[in-house]
Amino acid sequence: MKRIKAMNKIKKLPIEVYEKIKAGEVIEDPSSVIRELIDNSIDAKAKNIHVEIEEGGIGKILLSDDGEGMGKEDLEISYQQHTTSKIEKFEDIFALQTNGFRGEALSSIARVSQLKIVSCTDESGGANYIVIEGGKLLKSGIEARPKGTSIEVSSLFYNVPVRRNFLSPVKEIKKIKEEILVKALCHPEVSFYLKINKNPVLSLAAADWEDRMTEVFPDQKDNFISFARKSPDITVKGVITEPHVSWNTSSHLYFFINNRAVRPRFLYGVVNSVFSSLIPKGRYPAGAIYLYISPSHIDPNVHPSKKEIKILIEDQLFRFVYHALKEVFHPSEKKQEDLSQIKKFPETSETKIEKKQEKEEELTLDFQGADLPEEQSNSIDYKYLGTVFQTYLMAEIDDNLLFIDFHAAHERKRYEALKSRADKMETQGLLSPRILNFSRLEIEKVSEQRDIFKEIGFSFYLFGENSIVVESVPAFYQVKDWENDFKDLIHTLNSKSVEPENLKDELLKREACRGSYMSGETVPPNEAHALIKEVLEERFPLTCPHGRPFIYSMSKKQLAGNFLRKS
Ligand SMILES: Nc1ncnc2c1ncn2[C@@H]1O[C@H](COP(=O)(O)OP(=O)(O)O)[C@@H](O)[C@H]1O
Ligand SMILES: [Mg+2]
Repeated sequence: MKRIKAMNKIKKLPIEVYEKIKAGEVIEDPSSVIRELIDNSIDAKAKNIHVEIEEGGIGKILLSDDGEGMGKEDLEISYQQHTTSKIEKFEDIFALQTNGFRGEALSSIARVSQLKIVSCTDESGGANYIVIEGGKLLKSGIEARPKGTSIEVSSLFYNVPVRRNFLSPVKEIKKIKEEILVKALCHPEVSFYLKINKNPVLSLAAADWEDRMTEVFPDQKDNFISFARKSPDITVKGVITEPHVSWNTSSHLYFFINNRAVRPRFLYGVVNSVFSSLIPKGRYPAGAIYLYISPSHIDPNVHPSKKEIKILIEDQLFRFVYHALKEVFHPSEKKQEDLSQIKKFPETSETKIEKKQEKEEELTLDFQGADLPEEQSNSIDYKYLGTVFQTYLMAEIDDNLLFIDFHAAHERKRYEALKSRADKMETQGLLSPRILNFSRLEIEKVSEQRDIFKEIGFSFYLFGENSIVVESVPAFYQVKDWENDFKDLIHTLNSKSVEPENLKDELLKREACRGSYMSGETVPPNEAHALIKEVLEERFPLTCPHGRPFIYSMSKKQLAGNFLRKS
């Protein structure tokens, strides 16, 4: 008897329960309502989108657009399940040009709120409206409204109290602002307007994407660097902040693929690879990267909330974006003559040094993209004041006192020089080949990466189970230094703290560090001058190869403040 009862557990869900669960997949909170409504407005070719919210969107969301609108018949089925004007058959999603295609958003919103839609398709001024509650049509009729659509969503989740109780207006407002910001970056050609509890909080005029970016992040206006690259299949463009400003979160980085906001891991990987030697570990630049590829390379049908898409050519995109960024942020790796185009010392009177102090960020001096006009060089007027704490060079320039961590600056200088010659690493044969012992696992790793070792200048052969014989090493080594580096490289490879393709870079960083002036050493004045000049001319990024900043400045005004002087 018991057994029979136990088998009888599966029941068909009442349709209302099932529908509420399903609606929850698309509509999780007020910001997802806004995401879906904005998507619909943009699909309807709206140029102006107004959003008003009350009680963090839980009480009320009102969105109106000036898009194509819906006729009476379309309006009356728009809130029903799986009704869409955007695709007709499954294959259409692989040629998709719209944000929506499932026909699920309005029906999901309709089931968990009180909804009013007013829409007009022409300039007649006469619009149709419908009022729906819990998915059921309550009323319909005619009212006045210019071309476009208004949607009012009230009492969200009134019939799903568990979910409603979970929402807090303060948190929802934050998410809504972020959602609108993402949409605004995605569609700079559209103007956005937001009112919270009747107060206007955001007004973004239609712009091009670069202007939109600075409209959204006015503080970073001077720090953004643009980049672009085009091939017949892929286009990438974007702006990213210079490496001297960085954040301990990646949430200021936005990625768009075919105007869809996405957060694919591989794109974070690209940014990490490009910036690993420019900013400290665990910190990120801010910016927006826009990618355009054929819709046939994308499967958007991965998740109802549209946060994910499947990209069918990830590797190709990785390389493409990587090179686009590399050209701008590591120009010295291209060709030596590119150095001549790197921006020289910036504006003279209003230097970036002062801007830095306003923001209390690290010094905002850095090289910029190679597309900047060449300026006069060698005319920088500074006074070298000596070294302090056996660690910092001090110089006076304009109204600023400059401190340069000489080890870190020298390390960067040497690293850049080594990198520019690293295409073909010169090797030197050892007079007597050297036998080195390793663990079995390490030997396996070394043999797997033999080609990479060869490329960076180490050639060797296996000797028994635990040894290798090294025959030649990179030419820059003095007699014995190579042995420690070689062993370290193998250990780091084995412990996976470095990827095989980064071995060369790791080696260059070590060599750069080894050959640099160490803190505590005396820097001869001529060397100090050379270093200061190159730093001021922005010959290289202003962080060490591990991402530490090496320059700090204090303005005369700042100093005076400590003495309660006005200047
Ligand atoms: N703001 C709008 N302007 C014009 N038509 C709209 C608007 N919002 C929704 N629609 C229409 O309602 C349909 C259903 O919307 P939705 O449920 O979001 O599904 P989807 O966007 O996936 O098609 C859309 O296909 C579109 O035809
Ligand atoms: Mg939609």
